[in-house]
Amino acid sequence: MYTSRLAAAVVAACTLASPALAQERSHEIGTPVSAEDLKPFFSIQPGGIGLPAGSGTVAHGREVYNQRCFYCHGEKLEGNRDMAGPPLAGGRGTLASEKPLKTVESYWPQASTLFDYIWRAMPFDQPGSLTADEVYSLVAYILAEGKIVGQDVRMDAETLSKVVMPNANGFYDGSGPDLRIYRAGADK
Ligand code: HEC
Repeated sequence: MYTSRLAAAVVAACTLASPALAQERSHEIGTPVSAEDLKPFFSIQPGGIGLPAGSGTVAHGREVYNQRCFYCHGEKLEGNRDMAGPPLAGGRGTLASEKPLKTVESYWPQASTLFDYIWRAMPFDQPGSLTADEVYSLVAYILAEGKIVGQDVRMDAETLSKVVMPNANGFYDGSGPDLRIYRAGADK
């Protein structure tokens, strides 16, 4: 009895003390995460951080738009109410008026968001189906239609991160002292 208990204790101690064994064990659960698995979890930030390799042109963007986007966003990016697709261009200078028209052209402060959004969420009926080159081309096309970049632009990570959007200065940092109002007891 005593011997078998001792034997069990020795076995347990060896198991705990052996990192090799512990490692083998941890491989028995779960599967390693591959680069492919992590692909959907991208985040493209202002300044172009996270933009993928690739490039695109306005002409190619027009082609892709006419195949994959126009039926929801209109032939001239004016939107299509029947499909609930908002306008993507126009409205510049209307934000402070009685009838503000918020679009990529008039409202969005960063071009990097346009890349991120299209790559992540569009086309609405088939998100995630566009290549990086197609997204660069669509960004070039939409920004060229909004007269934010020229028709001859070659859009890539570098050009995109230099684009200055018309409403770039229309936002202010909301993390100021007013935040206390929304956090009960934060200033006590
Ligand atoms: C089946 C319809 C449909 C298709 C096709 C489609 N979209 Fe959209 N798109 C939408 C809808 C609906 C929204 C609004 C989504 C929301 O507000 O949550 C939207 C929003 C957007 C926005 C954000 C506009 C804003 O100001 O908020 C952009 C940019 C955009 N789409 C680009 C594209 C591009 C580029 C394509 C083609 C690759 C495309 N969409 C294809 C329906 C569509």
